Amino acid sequence: MKFSKDFIWGAATSSYQIEGAVNEDGRCPSIWDTYTHKEHITHDGKNGDITCDHYHRYKEDIALMRELGINAYRFSIAWPRLFSYSKSKGKLIATPNEKGFDFYDRLIDELLKNNIEPWITLYHWDMPQTLQDEGGFLNREIADWGAELAAAVAKKYSDRVTHYFTLNEMPCILGGYMGWKAPGLVKKRKDHLNVIHNMLLTHGKMNQALRAASTQKIIVSCAQNGLGHYPATDSKEDYEAFLKAMNCIEGAPYEYAPLPGSKRIMSDALIYYLDPIHFGKYPDQAFKIFKGDMPKIKNGDMEIISTPTEIQGINIYEGRPIASGSKGKYQDGWHIAEYSDGMDRNAAKWPITPESMNKYFNFISDRYKKPIYITENGMSNADIISEDGKCHDPQRIEFMRRYLEKLSTSIENGADVRGYFHWSLLDNFEWENGFNERFGLVHVDYTTQKRTPKDSFYWYKNLIEKFR
Ligand code: NOJ
Repeated sequence: MKFSKDFIWGAATSSYQIEGAVNEDGRCPSIWDTYTHKEHITHDGKNGDITCDHYHRYKEDIALMRELGINAYRFSIAWPRLFSYSKSKGKLIATPNEKGFDFYDRLIDELLKNNIEPWITLYHWDMPQTLQDEGGFLNREIADWGAELAAAVAKKYSDRVTHYFTLNEMPCILGGYMGWKAPGLVKKRKDHLNVIHNMLLTHGKMNQALRAASTQKIIVSCAQNGLGHYPATDSKEDYEAFLKAMNCIEGAPYEYAPLPGSKRIMSDALIYYLDPIHFGKYPDQAFKIFKGDMPKIKNGDMEIISTPTEIQGINIYEGRPIASGSKGKYQDGWHIAEYSDGMDRNAAKWPITPESMNKYFNFISDRYKKPIYITENGMSNADIISEDGKCHDPQRIEFMRRYLEKLSTSIENGADVRGYFHWSLLDNFEWENGFNERFGLVHVDYTTQKRTPKDSFYWYKNLIEKFR
């Protein structure tokens, strides 16, 4: 494994998953508060009311980050802490909440005091419920509301913060309109494509607003996820099949979640989301495949969406092996090869595919020609505290070692990847799966709030020291 000295080593979290304190200091309800408080929706009916109580324990958590030795910490600001909304004469009025802004002020200062760069995500899924009541991402105006948030964040923090991500994982936000994430709506393909267009517009307007309000030069991207496909074998044919799969927007038989009413629009077609951002246009094939379901593109939309970005954030967990030939569902020269029997899987049963860190990044790097930051990578594990009081998680160490080795190969082969943020710093509230999954480098006992760094924490710490 080889990494350059200026490679950024980090860890990531998000507001709703770790903060708790949902009713404190003027925070208004978000769609995740509403969703999790409905019965039988999340695993064991759990919610993020308290979770890691990071809102009160951020200093302790930053001390852990300092010990870990990370250069940067990616966290999200909770939109419902910064603004609440009301309606007057049919117009939506945004009211800023000073106490909410103060929390992130304190957090940022504490990070900087400990030599950790704050990297902000503007939207990691906790939309104010009042905005969802206006349609959320089904309403084009979301882009303006998002821009207002972005401007306020830049105005307040850009003297100290230079790295921003607009939206986290657009395909998963779309999941809220497919029935498997908050707000739990089930819509049709035409609506899905509209939601995607409005998300892209929101990204574009947030990007513009951040730049306009910043007091120094900033770096902006979105944190996008997808399946990290890889060629099933080293053969030339499978490599070509892999390229075809990456270039195919409906060629993502990514049925990791039910896609009601959505026929074949898939969750990960990376280029459907990233081409508009980097090239200012949807892939041509989209118009042929989705026809009348394509969103209404107004004059100027694509220019807004493609406002230049400096980097590309990618969240990566797993992928599918791609083979040549015409077996399986997709008959255009490639198919998803079968996994071997009993393949390695994490506690959430997601396949462990270190190969996802290789050609996938070369593909993204070649296509978009922007430095890439891995904004999330990690695994759920069945971690327990042993009798010796420690948390031994050899699987996570093995996972990180294998993934990072492949990443190092990808960089050697020319992929411009400049940083890695482990998901997650802490065990936390895993959305619809409640507290059933543990993704942290630090074990959290949710009854006592005791933090126990896992073996992987110390392994990562050593790795960071070695490459620094
Ligand atoms: C993606 C999301 O950004 C994050 O919120 C989630 O916890 C992890 N992946 C693990 O599922």
